[in-house]
Amino acid sequence: MIVLGIETSCDETAAAVVGDDRRILSDRILSQLDEHRPFGGVVPEVAARAHLEFLDGLVAEAIAEAGVGFADLDGVAVTGGPGLIGGVIVGVMTAKAIAAVHGLPFLAVNHLEGHALTARLTDDVQFPYLLLLVSGGHCQLLAVEGVARYRRLGTTVDDALGEAFDKVAKMLGLGYPGGPAVERAAETGDSERFRLPRPMKGRPGCHFSFSGLKTAVKHAVDALPPGPYDAGDVADLCASFQAAAGDAVVDRTANALRQFRDLHPGSDTLVAAGGVAANAFLRARLAALAETEGVRLITPPQRLCTDNGAMIAWAGVERLRLGLTDALDFKPRPRWPLDPDAPPAAFAGVKA
Ligand code: KG4
Ligand code: ZN
Repeated sequence: MIVLGIETSCDETAAAVVGDDRRILSDRILSQLDEHRPFGGVVPEVAARAHLEFLDGLVAEAIAEAGVGFADLDGVAVTGGPGLIGGVIVGVMTAKAIAAVHGLPFLAVNHLEGHALTARLTDDVQFPYLLLLVSGGHCQLLAVEGVARYRRLGTTVDDALGEAFDKVAKMLGLGYPGGPAVERAAETGDSERFRLPRPMKGRPGCHFSFSGLKTAVKHAVDALPPGPYDAGDVADLCASFQAAAGDAVVDRTANALRQFRDLHPGSDTLVAAGGVAANAFLRARLAALAETEGVRLITPPQRLCTDNGAMIAWAGVERLRLGLTDALDFKPRPRWPLDPDAPPAAFAGVKA
């Protein structure tokens, strides 16, 4: 069984072909970095236009590289949400057209489900597992109990972690995209120079908060001599921020592991996914936690942590195997919680 996957929910146009034997036959990604860089962040309208311009060509490349034809496919999967709606519409319309023309099953995949199931593509991880999903739009801890079966244990009450990385980068003039730039700058920095808060650390539960940390970084930046900032100051501040964020994530994840083991005694797998899981410092902190807690940590390779088409194709394979196909009148969803039954976090401004 082979499935074409299309991803257009943010600033990456991506198409891939993946088999149910976990082989990635092709995986094409076009980042719109140059389009968005002048604006210091993703502009939804610019993103949608770029997806429209490049998606058809990218799909053709993915099919050709896989050495197959459309007629060889068993299904077409596409991110149906959540995300920037203009881009999602471009992907969904394209996927529907391919499915209709070639008489193929159509699969609308939740972008978060794509991240959530990637570890099964890369490492054949069995259900259930605890998932730390850290990306630009989301920061959640979920018990992954099966395809389409997710139990949200924690979420952010304000910013997502990737968003915090991006904002810190912007404050320091490190440009866009922020996460990798902060990680690079932090490598030579002193993580103890700036005293920054560890939001939520020590509190019960496993919700996240990053706005207080972000504000503390802002105050520290304001206290620096006016820019352009000294490279040493930037390195120290990035390292201090990353250490604070790492402490917060480890604390929340440790609590989630306890909850997860109560739900699923004997389960021993922690998976980290989403763009921020590409961060080597965070991976090392999570690896140390996993060792202390006696669980194994699975992190997909960096390229499959950030947005890509292979994760959508794979989620399509998983859904197709279970007959979870969608009708061609599927409507793109700007918001689409993985666990609609999750109790709201006990604060204002919670993201789904
Ligand atoms: O999963 P992703 O590609 O897109 C979303 O679904 O949001 O995640 C993008 C986010 C951005 O906020 C980016 O700055 C962050 O992941 N990111 C990183 C790193 N690489 C990407 N954050 C920290 N360290 C990194 N190395
Ligand atoms: Zn993503």
